[in-house]
Amino acid sequence: MTTTALPPAAGRVAEPVSAQTALAVRTGLAAQPKRLPPWLFYDHEGSRLFDRITELPEYYLTRTERSILAAHAGAMIAQAAQGSRLRIAELGAGSADKTRLLLAAAIARQGTLDYEPVDVSPSALDAARERIEREIPGVRVCPRVMDYTHGLELEEMHEGERRLVLYIGSSIGNFDPEEAAQLLQGVRAGLRRGDSLLLGVDLVKEDSTLLAAYDDRAGVTAAFNLNLLHRLNRELGADFNLEAFGHRAVWNRAESRIEMHLVSRLSQRVRLAALELDVEFAAGETIHTENSFKYLPGQPETMLTEAGFTPAASWSDPNRWFAVCLGRVD
Ligand code: TRP
Repeated sequence: MTTTALPPAAGRVAEPVSAQTALAVRTGLAAQPKRLPPWLFYDHEGSRLFDRITELPEYYLTRTERSILAAHAGAMIAQAAQGSRLRIAELGAGSADKTRLLLAAAIARQGTLDYEPVDVSPSALDAARERIEREIPGVRVCPRVMDYTHGLELEEMHEGERRLVLYIGSSIGNFDPEEAAQLLQGVRAGLRRGDSLLLGVDLVKEDSTLLAAYDDRAGVTAAFNLNLLHRLNRELGADFNLEAFGHRAVWNRAESRIEMHLVSRLSQRVRLAALELDVEFAAGETIHTENSFKYLPGQPETMLTEAGFTPAASWSDPNRWFAVCLGRVD
């Protein structure tokens, strides 16, 4: 399966000029329209900027999902456990305080917990392990270095245990519908009867609210998007003039997704020395860097059903801006 949201498993390990980066950039900038894969966002500076995005007043996603988890973590854990002992896996290396709400609810119920964060980045997993074992006594962290977009292989469980997989933060929305469907099927294939998946999804809402979340007043999302060009300058010896590109967020209603683009402010040619490549940009031409799909009520349940899960429960905020859905393997 090909994915746009994550590099192949080795992608974030080899620095500075990985073959993956070279190939992705060469292919993306030759395409019409031009595009670059979103995994290029997350160098050191990109990860720092992303953490700041999650704290922006306009970026309602993180705080809305957190409020849902804060209100319902106990019910979510009880629904997933169905009276059994639970083990929790998470796709992505743990989104800190949001994950903590669920881990704490599980600890309150069963005293101790095995927690398996799954990520392609060993350093992100190490950081998560250190933080969580220090902050939540009773949690045993068992990190798994794996590209979960290619299926999920987790450890055998003890008799009578159930597994709950977390995929929160609207990360599923960064995949095209077909890729999202394959990802969920891959997760389903790694689970057994009685296991479940907790999925955090962002819902369609007023255009202005959606757009502001991806184009904040302080310009943090713009800096995050432009940092990608900065990275190409550094790693590929490119000469992108960051003043000559701008950030644009677009609500594509027909596809139900927010798109992030980098817009060339003028007609220009950019040299990427390490690739021995010159790229022409027309004035107003864009590079498409990310999608974030937004769902209508009922769609997350349909996605779960099509991947082989039975929708068991779902929780939302009073505005219905975000939903957290539980799918069970029956
Ligand atoms: N999945 C989240 C979202 O779509 C987080 C995210 C991924 C994001 N890429 C981003 C947020 C780029 C802002 C900008 O919102």
